[in-house]
Amino acid sequence: MGAFLLFVCLLAPLVLACAIRGRRRRAAAPASCSGKALPLPPGSMGWPYVGETFQLYSSKNPNVFFARKQNRYGPIFKTHILGCPCVMVSSPEAARFVLVTQAHLFKPTFPASKERMLGPQAIFFQQGDYHAHLRRLVSRAFSPEAIRASVPAIESIALRSLRSWDGQLVNTFQEMKLYALNVALLSIFGEEEMRYIEELKQCYLTLEKGYNSMPVNLPGTLFHKAMKARKRLGDIVAHIIAARRERQRGSDLLASFLDDREALTDAQIADNVIGVIFAARDTTASVLTWMVKFLGDHPSVLKAVIDEQEEIARSKGSSDEPLTWADTRRMRMTSRVIQETMRVASILSFTFREAVEDVEYQGYLIPKGWKVLPLFRNIHHSPDHFPCPDKFDPSRFEVAPKPNTFMPFGNGTHSCPGNELAKLEMLVLFHHLVTKYRWSTSKSESGVQFGPFALPLNGLPMTFTHKDD
Ligand code: HEM
Repeated sequence: MGAFLLFVCLLAPLVLACAIRGRRRRAAAPASCSGKALPLPPGSMGWPYVGETFQLYSSKNPNVFFARKQNRYGPIFKTHILGCPCVMVSSPEAARFVLVTQAHLFKPTFPASKERMLGPQAIFFQQGDYHAHLRRLVSRAFSPEAIRASVPAIESIALRSLRSWDGQLVNTFQEMKLYALNVALLSIFGEEEMRYIEELKQCYLTLEKGYNSMPVNLPGTLFHKAMKARKRLGDIVAHIIAARRERQRGSDLLASFLDDREALTDAQIADNVIGVIFAARDTTASVLTWMVKFLGDHPSVLKAVIDEQEEIARSKGSSDEPLTWADTRRMRMTSRVIQETMRVASILSFTFREAVEDVEYQGYLIPKGWKVLPLFRNIHHSPDHFPCPDKFDPSRFEVAPKPNTFMPFGNGTHSCPGNELAKLEMLVLFHHLVTKYRWSTSKSESGVQFGPFALPLNGLPMTFTHKDD
């Protein structure tokens, strides 16, 4: 029920928008080449208005619902959740059609209140030329060439985090969020904007608390506080931009935004800075938390990772010689653990798009205005692509997966531009974690929660202890 309420809060404005639009317009089925009207995909639309929302959330785990539907109807099916008619697709070909080859027919879709809070000019909500322009700037800042010089700075953030956990019972997810936030801020502002960073973090945390609240903008509500924090964040970013314009530029995201002939406005930069923090933080932290969990549950895999990382540590001249980009390229076993963690956990079970016109796919009609959800998790857990899909087995990545079957960072025009940075920060943290620390759970807890990403129960409380203690 908690998950249901969360989802209702999250998507309430989307529900209303869908319901209103649905009343205004009934999809007129287009004709196929043979002149016949096309059928909708198979599936059930459930009850009037509520559709299959209760079935989706009664199981606490939305993936059970998706898997059941797929077994019954196949890789493309219709349903109706939270007031929105939806088509769900769970084959690599259909996901590629929506995200890559016909991406122009499917726009990203978010509730209006979320757009307002993150910033309406942020990259996620865009299509066409403005999106392509932003992507060039963001991809340039997070390319391997741009981020390789930041290994020592990421390493000192990792070491600082680990020292602060030593001997303590910590909530792994919360600590990983702090680590991911610090790395995101480094990659956006470089190392020199420390003057504003503490206040920026505080405002971001207030914004985050209100993000999943009911979008009621009245004094005292979490949403109202979040909107105030959002305004202050815009002001802080404007101060940083002004200071940066007066002096030499670096190779971080802000530098990429400022070093651009078709200059972005301060408001556009602020929306995208806040958007990137949002995209970078909980995603990376969730994967890191699952890695701790899976390695703890699989001692032989953990041993292989320790062997690899100790070998790299031994190859350094002294114990405090910093890691290099080249070292991280030698972490093949650890990289496979990251891949397998992202496959098994599939923290983003799906993404949302909306058909911008009536679309025909394999003889079916996807009506204009319907949501289309590529189900990443179903693809990652299909035995056709990954034998014994529920087994955690990093060795399966010794061979590259079949094209379009492994999409932890999405696919196509909106795929994740931060993927290299995410992998780098995970490798650096795990190098020090497994070579210097051991960890144990406070009590044996297992289970998954959704908030909205899939996470080990209660954020995985753990005690981390230095091996020398
Ligand atoms: C393990 C960590 C991460 C995962 C699993 C992840 C996953 C994803 C996915 C699946 C998408 C595509 C969503 C869609 O198509 O609707 C995406 C988009 C995005 N990600 Fe990541 N991400 C991660 C880390 C990061 C980091 C560290 C950054 C930046 C520093 C970042 C920045 C972005 C941005 C800006 C977008 C939007 C791109 C666009 O709309 O063109 N992500 N991410």
